[in-house]
This record gives sequence, structure tokens and C-alpha cells, in this order.
Amino acid sequence: MGYRILDKKELAMNEVWYKIHAPHVAKKVQPGQFVIVRAFPNGERIPLTPVTWDREEGWITLVTFVRGKTTLRMANELKPGDELLNVAGPLGNPAPMKKFGKILAIGLITGMVEVFPIAKAWQEFGNDVTTLHVTPNPMVILKEDFEKAVSRHIVEGYDLQPGWGMQEIAQELVRRAVTKVRELLESEHWDLVFIVGPAGGQKAVFEVVREYGIPMEADLHPIMVDGTGMCGSCRVTVGGEVKFACIDGPGFNAYKVDWDELIHRVGFYTDLERKALEEYLKAIRGGGQ
Ligand SMILES: Cc1cc2nc3c(=O)[nH]c(=O)nc-3n(C[C@H](O)[C@H](O)[C@H](O)COP(=O)(O)OP(=O)(O)OC[C@H]3O[C@@H](n4cnc5c(N)ncnc54)[C@H](O)[C@@H]3O)c2cc1C
Ligand code: FES
Repeated sequence: MGYRILDKKELAMNEVWYKIHAPHVAKKVQPGQFVIVRAFPNGERIPLTPVTWDREEGWITLVTFVRGKTTLRMANELKPGDELLNVAGPLGNPAPMKKFGKILAIGLITGMVEVFPIAKAWQEFGNDVTTLHVTPNPMVILKEDFEKAVSRHIVEGYDLQPGWGMQEIAQELVRRAVTKVRELLESEHWDLVFIVGPAGGQKAVFEVVREYGIPMEADLHPIMVDGTGMCGSCRVTVGGEVKFACIDGPGFNAYKVDWDELIHRVGFYTDLERKALEEYLKAIRGGGQ
């Protein structure tokens, strides 16, 4: 059996959950690591994060935010019983497992899926973990799972307003995240802040955390292609040194990340990605709009 899709469901708006047969990944994966999935013969390779796994039964689960061509094709075209072409991994470094104390672990929109295995493991390791999910309300996911896994789970949700595009959604995301994080930092003591999400949102939250001088780690999401340090596409600058997020990360000390460079590089292929999505939508709609 290849990388068979054992189960698939829509968790929330644009959030799709897959259970995949991938014994070699399930056997070794640690919280913080990721896989690179190739779903279609002529398709691109995309990094995704195992959220849960069963080492004995040999499966992992993945959650995708349907945001561009590949994640949309996966949502539209794949069904239980189908096979992914390849699931490479586990890749990257596991998150550091130690006693930090009181941790605030933040996920912006689908970044929350990557927070899950790490926050759960930190709590099991003896830390006191609060998780914060900042997201549009229709995209709240894994709420009950977090409530079982950590000391406290907070959802900072907001309604989508008619006429909003990606820009307004992102602006509200940042506004909510920054306000809520400031409130939590002001009222409680924290030993570590951790964040996963779009780079612009991570940077905005980091700027608040820096005011309080609290140690902060961030999982970075530059474009990744091979995931093995060969192609250079995931290059980031950390502490003035060139690093490759796939082999040196994905977790880094937020104080050392060159956030502006990361934000610039993540936006590098936006036009091509939009074109690929438009062409795919045109093809599935039979050439019309
Ligand atoms: C270590 C890591 C773990 C990730 N885990 C998850 C996850 O569990 N669930 C999830 O939904 N997303 C995850 N992502 C982001 C995910 O890879 C992108 O959402 C996906 O590649 C989008 O592909 P697309 O063709 O649908 O969209 P596209 O139109 O190709 O891209 C939309 C946006 O996604 C990002 N992106 C696109 N291609 C890549 C790529 N090859 N590498 C990194 N980012 C890319 C860019 O920001 C881009 O602007 C992760 C990224 C990294 C680096
Ligand atoms: S993805 Fe190619 S070097 Fe990291």
C-alpha cells in the first residue's frame, strides 16, 4: 500500500483533514517536524505538518488550508482510497523538549495545526501551556483536541464581514493577535512565547513580545521545494547568518530572524501562484469564469 488516503473530511471552512497511510513517517516523526507531499504527477511539492500519528498503525494526519492551486486540487480531487504520490519525511528538527515553565503557544489561522503536536508534547513534558488560536470564526479547528491537550485554550475568533478580501482578513488577524497577546503578557507571567502563522502576523506579535523581553520561538514558513537543504529556496537570515529553514529549522529564535527579508521572500512567487490558481479554476470550470 502506498500513501493511501484512509480518511478525509472538511474540518471547517477551507480546512481539510486527511488521514494518510505513511508508516515510515509515523514511526519516526517528532513534534515540530514536517513532511513534503507530492499529490499529483505534474504537481508541486508542498510542506505540511503531521498533526497526529499512530506509530503502530502507521498513519499520520494532515490539515491543509485551501489557499492555492495544490491545496485546492487536493481538496477537490482526492478521496479516501486514493494515494498520494509521495510523502517525504520526517524533515526538519524536532521542537526543543524541555521544561520552560509557563508557555504561550500561538497559532494564526491554520498555523494552529502545527502548534498542536508541539504544545501537547510540551504540556506532557511538565510545562504549563496556554494555546491561543487567532482566526476567523468559520475557521476554528481542533478546539476540543486542544482543550484536552493543554492547561488552557483560548480562541480569539472574529466574524468575516461582507466584501472583505484577503487583505482585510489579514489586517483583522494581526489586530486581534496583537491586542490579545498584549493583554495576556500584561496580566500574566510567561517564560516562553511560541508562534506559527503568516510571517507578517508573526513579526507583528514578535514586536509586542520584544517589549516585554520574553524569550520567543517561531516556526518559519519560507517557500520549500526539496526540504533537504539542496535547493536554497527556504533561505532565511537568522542572527546575521544564512540558514535553511528545512534543515536548520523550522523553529528559530524570533529575536534573531530577519523578518523583513522573510516577508519579502514569501511574497516572491505570489503572481505565479495566483496565475496557477486561476488556470486551474479555469480548467475545472471548462474554460469559463
Ligand atoms: C514547515 C512548513 C510546514 C507547513 N505546514 C502546513 C500545514 O500543516 N498545513 C497547511 O495548510 N500549510 C502548511 N504549510 C504551508 C503550505 O506549505 C502552503 O500552504 C502550501 O504550499 C500552499 O500551496 P498551494 O499550491 O495550495 O498554494 P500557493 O498558491 O502555491 O501558495 C499560497 C501561499 O502558500 C505558501 N507556499 C506556497 N508554496 C509553498 C511551499 N512550497 N513551501 C512553503 N510555503 C508555500 C506561500 O506563502 C504562498 O504565498 C507549511 C509550510 C512549511 C514551510
Ligand atoms: S527547501 Fe530546499 S533548501 Fe530548504
